[in-house]
Amino acid sequence: MDDILEIRKDQLVCRIKAISPDGLTLFISLLKGGSGNITVGSPTGHSIGDVLMIDEERSNSYEQVDQSFWNAPTAIGVVVFINKNAEEVLVDMGVSIQTFPFQQGIEYGHTVEVDTETNQILRTISEKPITTRTAMDLVAPFAPIKVDDSMTYEDFGGLPDVVDQVRKLIETPLKHADEIKEINARPVKGVLFSGAPGTGKTLLARIVAKESGVPFFTVSASDLVSKWLGESGGLTRRLFETAKSEKQAIVFIDEIDSIAGIRSENSHEETRRMLTELLTQMDGFTPDSNIIVIAATNRPQDLDPALLRAGRFDWEVYFRMPDEKDRLAILIAGKRSIKTHGDLELPLIAAQTEGWSAAELSSLWTAASHFTARDNRKAINAHDLRRGVAQIAQRQEIMYRRGHNQRGENV
Ligand SMILES: Nc1ncnc2c1ncn2[C@@H]1O[C@H](COP(=O)(O)OP(=O)(O)O)[C@@H](O)[C@H]1O
Ligand SMILES: [Mg+2]
Repeated sequence: MDDILEIRKDQLVCRIKAISPDGLTLFISLLKGGSGNITVGSPTGHSIGDVLMIDEERSNSYEQVDQSFWNAPTAIGVVVFINKNAEEVLVDMGVSIQTFPFQQGIEYGHTVEVDTETNQILRTISEKPITTRTAMDLVAPFAPIKVDDSMTYEDFGGLPDVVDQVRKLIETPLKHADEIKEINARPVKGVLFSGAPGTGKTLLARIVAKESGVPFFTVSASDLVSKWLGESGGLTRRLFETAKSEKQAIVFIDEIDSIAGIRSENSHEETRRMLTELLTQMDGFTPDSNIIVIAATNRPQDLDPALLRAGRFDWEVYFRMPDEKDRLAILIAGKRSIKTHGDLELPLIAAQTEGWSAAELSSLWTAASHFTARDNRKAINAHDLRRGVAQIAQRQEIMYRRGHNQRGENV
């Protein structure tokens, strides 16, 4: 025991809050609470925020110690405003908004650690605003979406074989779930909608959900990948738990290629968790499962093969680019709600629009309406449509020269 040289009790840890202009008075706060000041004979060279240890017995003595002695908690907030002259920063602390002096490098939207004691921004934790979630986010993140009531199969032009296949795979099993259960056949769990962008995958998923009359849960795959480490599995699980609580449901995962690329070593950790949970959920469906999962992708060749294994997405519906007959049907479907005048020569347009996607064809009505409106007319005529065709064709040409075709593929 006799190698203890000295026990110093009652030392006061304090931190410099402010310094008088002449540098001779240090205003301090004490770690124990309270405040005080230290008067010195000549300027010390200390700065605001320095941590000092005062020896109480010899109160004219103090030494500077490491910042870690000051274990007062810091706080986290998001920068919501920086004033014009970059002097002051407003930080949203969750319960209050406080001002801090500007620090080089601080930008709007940064998440920062602040010291409320010395009123300083200590560091940027993230260049994005990290928002805290409320209890509401946790209990109600997924609700079935209401599909536009007026939508029917008539709004989907062309591709009759595709519509037929989709109805057989999705609408029929949902409507006759009890009979299928009796037959003891393996029910459809997952259907992959593949095809170029703008070929109607999302549209048909919404229509089939509405026509089947079951709750429709739709998410973009990237929404299931959380920015919170380790949360993506939970998000996905919650989606399926909510869907399972319905008597029957369709879960639509749009743009699954954005996350479900072949799982490589460097694929994002959260993406992997989401995908693993999706597979777990689908593998866990019981024979009388009430959910059909539709996933849409522009690039089926890039999908993780695990998704396509038996009992998962083992049905694929390919949305092809429309042929001339389909194009005419798409134009007619688009015309249903539009005021037109005279013969529109739609068959001619269908013949001239080789290579156009359904989305491009339906945007023709919008393009044409601009010419109609420009001339103060109230109904689209054949001439407006021809001008619309030329305009969209020109846009396609520009896209092509930029190295992308309208379907977003590299060319
Ligand atoms: N077969 C179709 N008949 C009529 N309109 C269509 C058709 N396919 C697509 N559209 C139109 O194009 C838009 C984009 O289609 P979308 O379903 O989002 O394509 P995808 O999901 O395949 O990228 C739709 O909102 C709709 O206006
Ligand atoms: Mg889509």
